[in-house]
Amino acid sequence: MLVSGKSALHGELIVPGDKSISHRAIMIGSIANGDTRIQGLLESEDCVSTMECFRAMGIEIEYKGDMIIVHGKGLHGLKQPARTLNAGNSGTTTRLISGILAGQSFETIIDGDSSLRKRPMKRIVEPLTKMGADIRSLSGNDRLPLQIRPARNADETIQGKSAILKAVHYQSPVASAQVKSCILLAGMYASGGRTSVTEPVRSRDHTERMLAAFGADISVEGKTVFIAPEPKLTGQSITVPGDISSAAYFIAAGLITPGSEILIRNVGMNPTRNGILQVARTMGGDISVVRTYDAGGEPAADLLVRSSNLSGMDIGGEIIPSLIDELPVIAVMAAFAKGTTVIRDAAELKVKESDRIAVMTDNLRRMGCDVEATEDGMVIHGGAPLHEATVETHLDHRIAMSFAVAAMGAGCSLNILGAECVNISYPGFFEDLSALCRPI
Ligand code: S3P
Repeated sequence: MLVSGKSALHGELIVPGDKSISHRAIMIGSIANGDTRIQGLLESEDCVSTMECFRAMGIEIEYKGDMIIVHGKGLHGLKQPARTLNAGNSGTTTRLISGILAGQSFETIIDGDSSLRKRPMKRIVEPLTKMGADIRSLSGNDRLPLQIRPARNADETIQGKSAILKAVHYQSPVASAQVKSCILLAGMYASGGRTSVTEPVRSRDHTERMLAAFGADISVEGKTVFIAPEPKLTGQSITVPGDISSAAYFIAAGLITPGSEILIRNVGMNPTRNGILQVARTMGGDISVVRTYDAGGEPAADLLVRSSNLSGMDIGGEIIPSLIDELPVIAVMAAFAKGTTVIRDAAELKVKESDRIAVMTDNLRRMGCDVEATEDGMVIHGGAPLHEATVETHLDHRIAMSFAVAAMGAGCSLNILGAECVNISYPGFFEDLSALCRPI
């Protein structure tokens, strides 16, 4: 796709629903008793993958106007799927659903596309195995497809039912909400008391918030989350706030595109997700909060963003999990900032939908940016004028959207190969961007 960046950005945008929260609403709704009504669910390819997995296990998911109703069947109401579950491109679907599947009394196989088949699964296989799950990589390399078989936890019972898993405490080596959520979901099917997970740095907490709202006995002490087994989950009404990870492209585009002023409505402001705002402001970005409100138990806000002269900065340490998905677009902002930006402590970027350190570095260089890859991040020497180029997305949605932003900032055309992968998290991204474009 050829993207022309020869415009300023003006007007208003309503950010589509949060992907992380949408996945969790479908999953937790499916294993709750009764109906869960969801407003603002993100209908992107990743979320459709989650919906199809639960439909394959007997859950009815219905559209009623702009609402989606999940007819939950309770913790033990899922049915064995007739075929392999397909998670498509979605790491969140795979890792979270595996925690639920490990607790079922039927066998499943879960697989995904060629990108997902390259992503590490040992991070969930290891803790689930500690909990007594019978889970293995069929390709023998800790990658998909995964086979999950019911492994009875010998003679233990929970509330009269023979237990499948046993409660553990897990010290996670990575700050990963997918790993944490997988273990917490499995913990609901485990005997022997509460299951707990400690992370090196706290990752996004949407699972904790949503499970608590559905009635689970879940608590947080410092960097540790505890969950009790066999909760009685009850269907809820949920309003999904807008995805700050999607808003991030417009925040960045508004800041680096000269002469721009945009109002971005419905931005999720969960403190475990909004690190980009702190970074953008420290770089000198003019971002004001116009209104704050509550969107179904999650904080949200409308943000006014004006083009700004940015300066480079050091980004690392505890803030990283709160902006991990925004680092590609932050790297683009850094390319337009005066001075050097160092991104460190972000080795996780290598195991996302693409190796985002290698892919960002390669594509930014193609546009004329002076950038180096490091073991756990990038060093970006900003300020040089960027120019037309052809960039490769490697079918990674966040790379495609980051380079549309780079084209806007540079005021040039960019040939983005495989740009349709934006549908993974943001169908309508290019339409929303062009609706804000005004000729200079
Ligand atoms: C997600 C967690 C993050 C993030 C991903 C969504 C989630 O992954 O990168 O896009 O919804 O839990 P990790 O938990 O592996 O860091």
